[in-house]
Amino acid sequence: MRKILAAGNWKMNNTPSQAEAMINELKAKVKDAKNDVLIFTPFVCLPAAVKAAEGSNIKIGAQNMHFEDKGAFTGEISAQMLKEIGVEYVLIGHSERREYFAETDDTVNAKVIQALKNGLTPMVCCGETLKQREDTITFDFIRSQIKIAFRSLSKEDALKVVVAYEPIWAIGTGKVATSEQADEVCRDIRECLAGIYDEETAANIRILYGGSVNKDCAAELFAMNDIDGGLVGGASLKVEDFSIICNA
Ligand code: PGA
Repeated sequence: MRKILAAGNWKMNNTPSQAEAMINELKAKVKDAKNDVLIFTPFVCLPAAVKAAEGSNIKIGAQNMHFEDKGAFTGEISAQMLKEIGVEYVLIGHSERREYFAETDDTVNAKVIQALKNGLTPMVCCGETLKQREDTITFDFIRSQIKIAFRSLSKEDALKVVVAYEPIWAIGTGKVATSEQADEVCRDIRECLAGIYDEETAANIRILYGGSVNKDCAAELFAMNDIDGGLVGGASLKVEDFSIICNA
């Protein structure tokens, strides 16, 4: 069965020393957590975060990476670099990266393939804008994001991918999707994956919801049939709140 995953996305917050302190504090609070715990930190915080999380149940992930092995890509970070410092997960195609850093469905697919090739677990983000929701094209749009993200992935590889459904209108706005709205899209993503692979494969892929998840709504969201956890931005910056989400 799919275990609930509580993933924090710190975005561009915290320095390495702050990361170390926060993870040390969190470690004690989540050592018996019901859910799997994961934190995506800024690149420069990764070594400190990995070290602080050592021997605990907290996994560490990066917020992005490049799809090539190495080369003339100034300012970029490769999968191999992440792997060598003990990073286990990588966030791919967050809507902020799509909006501000020209990430496309094709670069998302290339990065997913590259992450898997290097033994990193990719968490692929998808999600519609408010305009797309109002135009009632949410399902079509997200299915297209999913189909391209999973393009040319074998069933074995697909099983290693985590999906995060994050409606853009719910990110950082305090406007959480209702449990039904979130579950409905997560279920459709699962049906889309069943179409690409099969029912059994789709039933084993974790699909998270993200967008203003907080300590008060997490339990209800995580109890839904097709929601397997949360990708948490703002609330992951508060240790107390995030630890509640890790136990929701
Ligand atoms: P939020 O961010 O929880 O602050 O809405 C979620 C995300 O962008 O991953």
